Amino acid sequence: SLPVENVQVLASKNLKNIPSRYIRPEFESDVVSTDESLQIPVIDMSKLDHDDEQTKLHFACKDWGFFQLINHGVADEIIEQMKADAREFFHLPLEERMACAQIPDHIEGYGQVFVISEEQKLDWSDMLFLFGLPVPLRDTRFWPANPPSFRTTLDKYTMELHKVMIQLMKLIAKNLGMDPETLLSLFENEIQAIKMNHYPPCAEASKVLGASPHSDSSALTILLHANEVEGLQINRNQKWVPVKPIPGAFTVNIGDVIEIMSNGEYKSVLHRAVVNGDKERLSIAAFHNQKLGTQVGPLQDLVKTNKALYKTIPVEEFRRWKMTSKQDGKFMIRKMEL
Ligand code: SIN
Ligand code: FE2
Repeated sequence: SLPVENVQVLASKNLKNIPSRYIRPEFESDVVSTDESLQIPVIDMSKLDHDDEQTKLHFACKDWGFFQLINHGVADEIIEQMKADAREFFHLPLEERMACAQIPDHIEGYGQVFVISEEQKLDWSDMLFLFGLPVPLRDTRFWPANPPSFRTTLDKYTMELHKVMIQLMKLIAKNLGMDPETLLSLFENEIQAIKMNHYPPCAEASKVLGASPHSDSSALTILLHANEVEGLQINRNQKWVPVKPIPGAFTVNIGDVIEIMSNGEYKSVLHRAVVNGDKERLSIAAFHNQKLGTQVGPLQDLVKTNKALYKTIPVEEFRRWKMTSKQDGKFMIRKMEL
């Protein structure tokens, strides 16, 4: 991948006109929904042993691909500490942040979203990308030593999110009419990747994007809005619907791998992040992926009567495709469609 300027440094220059590589005229005509009542569903995890909440979850996965999860059982202190440590990391002097900088041929570390060509437009954001689980996959070279609590907090956070993901996977399996054990065997030793996003304020906020439209190539993503600034928008009926985060809730979305496993019953949904004119924004995404040594493809239970709509390939190959492609829209789904 190609080196790209640090966006926080760029933002601090207070340029009147920002470099053209960040300006996105191709999205100028996009429509943002102003209908305040149009919101992604809210799922109460403490009620998921009731049939009607399970039905609501099925509808949220099938019709929206996104929902907010409340009463998820992750302690407030862990969430607040994770937010505080992430904020503190992004506020360290540049040299200290650069101690965790991306290095060639590694996707982990502090830097910018993967860029493969000189012409490619750039997102107005910096990120810290780390493998959280399984524990042996953690490369602590990229784990901030500052703030001092960062590593313990992230360790706890990934473990807690693992539990939430497993609970959701059980119910997703049930809602898809399949044996939960099949899904659990893939995700009990999940690969959990953490992407902490920092979106500096931008003088031309309406002309840039913090994250270009994409679907997640994970199975499931659990996102934490890490400060009070909004910015996530999801694509629905050709409009961008802003997500209004509920304090304490996670935003959960179906990734490409669940779309593929469910043979299209659930779909990954395009989303993007916009940035703010005078406030920074922070978010923390946890991407949940199946363990290595398994296959990505429609699950057998689900293709007994319908024919498979997607390829089946080793997860290692799926991951290789993902790292070597331009991350554009639903690119992994296009590669996997039969
Ligand atoms: C992303 O989906 O890449 C970013 C989500 C967010 O920052 O809200
Ligand atoms: Fe995403």
